[in-house]
Amino acid sequence: MFNHLQAYAGDPIFKVAQAFQEDPRQEKINLSIGLYFDDEGQVPVLDVVHAVERSWAERNEPRIYLPMAGLPDYCSSVQALLFGQEAVDEGRIATIQSVGGTGALRVGGELLHEAFPQSELWVSDPNWANHEAIFKGCGIRTHSYRYFDATTKRVDFEGMLSDLMQLPPRSIVLLHPCCHNPTGVDLSRAQWQQLIPVLKERQLIPFLDLAYQGFAEGVTEDVYVLRAMYDAQLTFLVANSFSKNFSYYSERCGALSVVCSSASGAQHVRGVLEAIVRRLYSNPPAHGAQVVAAVLSNPEWRAQWEAEVAGMRERIREMRQAVTKQLAHYAPQYDASYWLEQNGMFSYTGLTSEQVDRLRDEFGIYLLASGRVCVPGLNNQNVSYFAQSLAQVV
Ligand code: LMR
Repeated sequence: MFNHLQAYAGDPIFKVAQAFQEDPRQEKINLSIGLYFDDEGQVPVLDVVHAVERSWAERNEPRIYLPMAGLPDYCSSVQALLFGQEAVDEGRIATIQSVGGTGALRVGGELLHEAFPQSELWVSDPNWANHEAIFKGCGIRTHSYRYFDATTKRVDFEGMLSDLMQLPPRSIVLLHPCCHNPTGVDLSRAQWQQLIPVLKERQLIPFLDLAYQGFAEGVTEDVYVLRAMYDAQLTFLVANSFSKNFSYYSERCGALSVVCSSASGAQHVRGVLEAIVRRLYSNPPAHGAQVVAAVLSNPEWRAQWEAEVAGMRERIREMRQAVTKQLAHYAPQYDASYWLEQNGMFSYTGLTSEQVDRLRDEFGIYLLASGRVCVPGLNNQNVSYFAQSLAQVV
């Protein structure tokens, strides 16, 4: 009955992670999927999450449905985290809990397609592969704008601006506020300030995907552009996720925030979002959101969480420094400076797919075919082996 459907070739990220699991070699290294590993190669349970869950061990609350928009305390804590308490008090943001960042993108895509059926989406080149699939699933056509200059390994900001200036009004522009996936190359604050008036004057609809808050400079520093857009009175959407910064991947904790021009506008949008959620999955799960809300609203737990995020961020930086040092030794002719310039979980090596295949086949090192490396897959035990292996293929 379903043979006419196109066969699924598998996801370009999950497929590599699966192949890694099946590899029997001892010395193998997983640098594929975006997971934070500690220096022992384990995905940690944050101490603060453990503390909250332990304190609730005896709780036995009835498991009634959450509201369609999710847990109210979670939504208000997320809003304050992203935009600050003053913005929450102004009331012109509609925030709903979502099933991970992906769920937020999907619900946001549904909203945009319902509001502007002619609007199309522009994503950076290169981009996280799933964005296009998510928006196509909402019936939105997708295209790309120039972003990464492979020669300089920096943002092609001129190219980006000039592409965005050509777009028709109400085009949707997907942007990464920090830790760009897959390149790790971000806009500077000065560049964001140049971009914001262009988005506003051309009446474009920014959709910000914030999956790595706290992994670049800090929890508050990394939302710089959200607050700058808010202050500039833009109407825009934000999908955020706690998968990485709470190490909470399987709990699927995310949120969608739609910044509107008035409080009544936000209330209206919230109702439309509830209708979309009701027809897609009715209401979200509770446990993860309860923990995140508790951590964000308790000053002691909040400080502990920020310290743990800082620890993850610092370890990633240390690994970037270690790789650079090791490469200077094993491949002195190779320009490894980009390791220190790129931000967050990912480094974009510029390796060809043949070099990526050699790393996998000869050394058991798994990265994405695009040359993207998930830096926290490196640790003090394997970083030298990684650099020696990389030196063999560059
Ligand atoms: C990644 O880019 O590896 C992560 O965001 C995980 C995913 O869902 O693709």
